[in-house]
Amino acid sequence: MTEFRAPVGTRDVLPPESARWERLVAVFAGTVERAGYGLVLSPMFEDVGVFERVGEGTDVVRKEMYDFEDKGGRRVALRPEGTASVVRAYVQHRPTPPFKAWYVAPNFRYERPQAGRFRQHHQLGVEVLGTDDADLDVEVVALAWSVGAALGLAQVTLLLNSLGDDACRPAYLELLKSFLASAALCDEHAGGYEQNPLRVLDCKRDACRSATETAPRLVDNLCEACAAHFARVRSGLDTLGVPYTLQPRLVRGLDYYTRTTFELAAGALDSAQNAVGGGGRYDKLAEALGGPATPGIGFGMGIERLLLACDAEGVFPGPPSAVDVWVVDTAGGGAALALTHELRAAGISADRSFDGRSMKSQFKSADRSGARVALVVGNDELAAGTMTLRDLRGGDQETVARADVVEHVRKLLS
Ligand code: HAM
Repeated sequence: MTEFRAPVGTRDVLPPESARWERLVAVFAGTVERAGYGLVLSPMFEDVGVFERVGEGTDVVRKEMYDFEDKGGRRVALRPEGTASVVRAYVQHRPTPPFKAWYVAPNFRYERPQAGRFRQHHQLGVEVLGTDDADLDVEVVALAWSVGAALGLAQVTLLLNSLGDDACRPAYLELLKSFLASAALCDEHAGGYEQNPLRVLDCKRDACRSATETAPRLVDNLCEACAAHFARVRSGLDTLGVPYTLQPRLVRGLDYYTRTTFELAAGALDSAQNAVGGGGRYDKLAEALGGPATPGIGFGMGIERLLLACDAEGVFPGPPSAVDVWVVDTAGGGAALALTHELRAAGISADRSFDGRSMKSQFKSADRSGARVALVVGNDELAAGTMTLRDLRGGDQETVARADVVEHVRKLLS
């Protein structure tokens, strides 16, 4: 018989790793909900056109999209990223701006799998629609920063740039193109830089790296409004004490960005896959999706990468154990069943062994579970109306009246 495996580039997340995911989501939710963001759930697939608007010149759309025709003949695509779906939902439902949303969702990109790069990855993110106030840029960037800090990550660098807008970017692109025309670029970009010259700045190959060292920088060519906006963002970050590094090469992999763009780079990860999060403004995307002109900004953080960075720095461990109490049953019958049920109903986490295993094997399971105490349900105890309670950390044992056992355990655990 064929033994099936998870598809290439995907992974199963099992306990106890999954408990760490839950904790990460809870940290994120706590951080952004305290700032007024509400959870948005959107479909995992959309009309392919929704995602095509994020940039027909990008790898994400051109090469990596899981798009197909459904049984009704509609062209759909699995979500490669979260922003387009939230903006589509905003355009469709027109909630009162500013609309502050957060999400946790799987994304699908047909990429070459490697460490920290998957075909299904998961992002935690926020999006805000309806204001272009620079204070909001500061809020959003600071939220991303504080998620890293809340996890205990110390080796994260915030890279910041401005990509300008329709008023200043076209002239800059012409300037860049004429610079690139006489530069010795890598094979991929030598012939194909004209369509998207900004990509060359992001190219990791040595040829492009050295050829663009003296390339004109967009931050030096911003129009007055974009320069003023960027200055306000920077001074806001300074006010909050959020440290950042200006990175004029930061162009991001999606085409919708305008003005503020940023990335969080984890120093503890291999540089090819060290972005644990990224985002920026996309003031034209709502219009591109058929809505009214509505500025927007947000970021997405990769759950897998965040946890890899935490591993590399030795921070943010998983929760210590799944349950507090393990019920060891040597009597058979219904007593262990009833006790376990009663503990759970009282809000105490409890588990037990099945299949009438030996006492030794049940204690082994109890130890493996990480439970703090074991309650032994044996025939002698049942006859005496008691239970034996064993402290699994220290090894002490005591006898407790059956009627008091739940209250006793509750006190002990608190
Ligand atoms: P992105 O930079 O493509 O931006 O992805 C955001 C984060 O998701 C990355 O920094 C990385 O941590 C993680 N990530 C991306 N692709 C993969 C992958 N193949 N495997 C593992 N992790 C991955 C966006 O998706 C934008 N929607 C972010 C945004 C929100 N911009 C504005 N609002």
